[in-house]
Amino acid sequence: MNPYLIALCIVSLLLPHSLSAANDNTPSNEQKNNRYRTRVAPSTQRKGDAKKGYRYLVEGDYIVSGIPIGLYTMARPAGKNLLKRSGDQADLPFHFTAVTSPNGVRVVTSNCLRCHAQMLDGKFILGLGNSIADFTADRTATISMIDTMITGLHGADSPEREAYKTLHDRFLLISPLIQTQVRGVNPADNLAFVLGRHRDPDTLEWIDNPPATSEPKKTSVIPTDVPPLWLMKKKNALYYTASGRGDFARLIMASSLLTLKDSKEAAQIDKNFADVLAYLSTIQAPAWPKKVDSTLAQQGQQIFKDECVRCHGEHGPSSDYPNYVIRLDTIKTDPLLSQWQRSADSHSYAKSWFGKGPNAARLEPGDGYIAPPLDGIWASAPYLHNGSVPDLQTLLNSKARPKFWQRSFNTSDYDFDKVGWKYQSHQANPNKNPNIYDTTLPGYGNQGHTFADDLSVTQRKALLEYLKTL
Ligand code: HEC
Ligand code: HEC
Repeated sequence: MNPYLIALCIVSLLLPHSLSAANDNTPSNEQKNNRYRTRVAPSTQRKGDAKKGYRYLVEGDYIVSGIPIGLYTMARPAGKNLLKRSGDQADLPFHFTAVTSPNGVRVVTSNCLRCHAQMLDGKFILGLGNSIADFTADRTATISMIDTMITGLHGADSPEREAYKTLHDRFLLISPLIQTQVRGVNPADNLAFVLGRHRDPDTLEWIDNPPATSEPKKTSVIPTDVPPLWLMKKKNALYYTASGRGDFARLIMASSLLTLKDSKEAAQIDKNFADVLAYLSTIQAPAWPKKVDSTLAQQGQQIFKDECVRCHGEHGPSSDYPNYVIRLDTIKTDPLLSQWQRSADSHSYAKSWFGKGPNAARLEPGDGYIAPPLDGIWASAPYLHNGSVPDLQTLLNSKARPKFWQRSFNTSDYDFDKVGWKYQSHQANPNKNPNIYDTTLPGYGNQGHTFADDLSVTQRKALLEYLKTL
């Protein structure tokens, strides 16, 4: 007898369960589980200095073109120094940083907190996704108007105008390509796509006219919410589809593609992002600011164990986050983001500068969405990857979710009973008011995640109370 067959027989005697399950048609629990979820394996991350990382995040020059600081301060009154910065940074709003452009002019430009920080009920929360930003308008006119002002003030050939030029040119190109149809959602995925295709894959130098692949159409801007940064430390992959694999610092330094010169400059910026990553890993979820009914929350915890832990994992002291991507045919939330990412050419990213060397990153979008950790979930409304559900109460009951809903975009209008944004429902949105979230638009659907639909009203109430404590 063939030694290979003998070995196989011995193995089949030792492992009767796995083989018999494969032979008859009843799948084992493990197999059943694996049909709807895939565990994401961890990858090694660079170590860094969290203190340095914080300074770089809020003061660093990863975007090196902007509005001359003199003009900026003329136009905008001083803000509160929420980030405890010093010098000319101190008076800037948290989402702006002052940097020295390559030609020596001091300019004001956006930082990561443009999308990754927000006020909520009077408190500043660093790491909370900005869900009030408005990307619905084409900003072309404003961008050109700033250029006119700089020219008027400093002259057409001035170093000040030169220091604004890169940002001006890039924004003129990008602005019409990242317009969302509803206020509050974010076009970062399209932004990354546009910036990526205008860069040489190896040298990262800017290309004005990139080859072939057509520009994404206006209607194809994929809307997403912004995930809170305090979840990152639990995750084995970044982004909603778990597409961000390998070196996280390399993945997130891509924001600098807006203005960086080439791969030499990218390598410098990349070094600092190991520190930024270290800082991001220290961000804690904000604690629920109101009272909790602890008896009710305890009942909710049991329901969470029975209904939710299999995907989201255990929270609290015995925290165990499993890092599962849940397939589209199970999660059934809006499929567009996952489908779009899977149709994109991920190989070119892996072959580019980003995929090279010891700190390589790669993009591997899953067939579905990651079941996120739910720490601080009370604060991060609206819910689901596209921000289509205004509060936790309706997240837990898919039939009650509003089809058209409008909020004030005032960050004090938070509903601490339903846990999420206060809103008004509408029957339709005939005038296409961008302040009304329209869940009938492609990519904006609020369907799926029906796992709490069959619970009773009392059970749902208990579960909601427990979610406040995470
Ligand atoms: C224009 C808005 C915007 C800016 C600016 C921005 N981000 Fe993000 N960021 C997003 C969005 C949107 C996502 C989610 C994208 C997705 O998953 O498809 C994200 C995802 C992330 C994630 C992954 C979080 C997770 O749990 O998966 C990290 C980490 C991150 N950003 C860090 C940064 C850093 C650091 C900067 C600055 C260098 C930055 N971002 C700049 C919008 C932005
Ligand atoms: C089969 C796996 C699975 C089960 C079971 C499950 N979830 Fe989820 N959950 C997910 C996935 C995947 C997402 C992300 C979906 C998306 O964004 O499109 C999610 C999203 C959420 C969100 C929104 C997160 C955010 O930041 O927007 C909340 C809240 C949530 N789940 C709570 C629960 C609760 C409570 C239960 C139990 C009743 C539960 N989930 C059961 C997989 C699951």
